[in-house]
Amino acid sequence: MFMRSLVIVALSAAALPLLARAEGPGLGRPASPDEIAAWDISIGPEGAGLPPGRGTAQQGAAIFAAKCAVCHGEKGAGKPNDQLVAGVGSLAGDAPVKTVGSFWPYATTIFDYVRRAMPLPAPKSLSNDEVYALTAYLLQQNGIIGDTEVIDASSLPKVRMPNRDGFVPFARTR
Ligand code: HEC
Repeated sequence: MFMRSLVIVALSAAALPLLARAEGPGLGRPASPDEIAAWDISIGPEGAGLPPGRGTAQQGAAIFAAKCAVCHGEKGAGKPNDQLVAGVGSLAGDAPVKTVGSFWPYATTIFDYVRRAMPLPAPKSLSNDEVYALTAYLLQQNGIIGDTEVIDASSLPKVRMPNRDGFVPFARTR
């Protein structure tokens, strides 16, 4: 008898989450594939998820002047908001200058971040070509690529950032 009630308790505990899901709160509707796609825009460090499109630093320069310089300064020199250019090699010294060029370990993050968050007043307003061009521009201004190099889904993951090895792995022991 004891064993049988134990089995019943175990079964009903397993069935609870299923029941809860089947009943549900009766709110909302499933997100459509288009709605999910609009939010599912994360780019992996190795470039997974990069969309079609391309751009060069030359193209990016004009876009930067029009849409970014007001907050990030001419050529990304900073002020009133974050400095985006220079400081490469300065982090270990007495006057570290933390920028996209000096600090970020993966070039692919520039695409991800600019596409999802910038320009600040109108995030997600840039086309993929514009984001590639701006990414190329920031890389070129930081001396990491040349001004005619084409940045796209295949070339961007191959760009090696100067501070790629500047992070110390933290061994989690739980
Ligand atoms: C209205 C002001 C404004 C405009 C315009 C703007 N930004 Fe920004 N940007 C910011 C602010 C503020 C931050 C810092 C946000 C934070 O730390 O959460 C930032 C952060 C960034 C960063 C990350 C810097 C870092 O080191 O963490 C990048 C890259 C960037 N912006 C690129 C751009 C580009 C490219 C454009 C043009 C398409 C642009 N921004 C337009 C205000 C702006």
